[in-house]
Amino acid sequence: MSGAPLLGALAHRIVEEDLSLRTRMLEIAAGLDDVIALGRGDPDFHTPPHIVAAAHRALDENQHHYTHPAGLPVLRGAIASHLSDEFGLRYSADEIIVTAGVQESIVLTMLGLVNPGDEVLITSPRFTTYDMAVSLCGGVPVPVPTYEEDDFALMPAAIEARITPRTKALVLVTPNNPTGAVTPPAVIRTIADLVQRHNLVLVSDEIYAKLIYPGSEHLSAGTLPGMRERTITLNGFSKAYAMTGWRVGYLAAPHEFTQRLVELRHTLSINTNTPAQHAALAALTGPQEAVQAMLEEYAERRSYLMRALSELGLSYGHPGGAFYIYTNVSSSGLASPRFCEELLRHGRVMIFPGRMFGDESDRYVRISYLQPLPRIEEAIERMRRFLQR
Ligand SMILES: Cc1ncc(COP(=O)(O)O)c(C=O)c1O
Repeated sequence: MSGAPLLGALAHRIVEEDLSLRTRMLEIAAGLDDVIALGRGDPDFHTPPHIVAAAHRALDENQHHYTHPAGLPVLRGAIASHLSDEFGLRYSADEIIVTAGVQESIVLTMLGLVNPGDEVLITSPRFTTYDMAVSLCGGVPVPVPTYEEDDFALMPAAIEARITPRTKALVLVTPNNPTGAVTPPAVIRTIADLVQRHNLVLVSDEIYAKLIYPGSEHLSAGTLPGMRERTITLNGFSKAYAMTGWRVGYLAAPHEFTQRLVELRHTLSINTNTPAQHAALAALTGPQEAVQAMLEEYAERRSYLMRALSELGLSYGHPGGAFYIYTNVSSSGLASPRFCEELLRHGRVMIFPGRMFGDESDRYVRISYLQPLPRIEEAIERMRRFLQR
């Protein structure tokens, strides 16, 4: 049956077909055996069992009704305590809104902030959901580039150069996806001054803040003087707790702001899945050893990969956090989309080109180290043979 009437009815915001590289790569991979997937940002670990058990228990106890749109009060309280203990951020339970992953927090934040024509600065290369969310609100996403020479840390001068009278907000993602870059505390202090001087809002995406490796330090911008009142902090459970499919995240901001978002949040999906909220509560209040164990495993994989990539003659920005290495493949002589496609076809290793993260230089690929170490070693061996061809 023809979909022509629907196509004719498409809203102006639907600008193109999904011709994305991601879709094409996944289709190629589906036709191959034994592909080593180092593409997606989805931990290979399972959610720790005590968290899964909490969801089972919630279901057994009939905890499957609607909750308050902002989330279970007990979970919001636990999130407030966690933000304070872990990052020194001061929020009360009524300053937290629980959402379907940080993804929904991003959309909610932009719906709450952006008027048509407003410009939003975004650390780049970037998690491009930000572009889409800003555009859906009629705003203009403005990438702020970061560079390998600076280990992809966001630099105040690059921000300042892009501020106009229409600039409404800055999105700071640290550690960042796809670069793993941790913006150093001293730089965050300078950025905080700049944000105040230009009367901007700071959206601080800290989804990877528990995944920091020795030598790097995370600073939550909302702890700095004068910043609490102009910062929206985003965080969640997907990455540190290996809970991607549960879909729990949250935003934290002063009550005057969050209370104005509750009706909007209700409109999006009423509330975050109730058993998943109970699981998230167990994640915060239960034992943390599993998180530490995963972090140690990531650290080992990261050290191995950094060494192995250097031996292959490939450079990268220092990955201080998250679980990605943003690798420069220009020495291969191939543009990175082609590099990824050929490596997949001939080497059966899947990694993603920088274009998926808004980077049009075509020099970089994102490698996520979310496979057991022996598989990563095998992937490096396949890359070595591919590069020799
Ligand atoms: C920077 C960043 N923010 C937000 C998200 C969304 O995460 P989730 O919706 O699973 O919490 C991701 C996922 O990769 C991300 O990399």
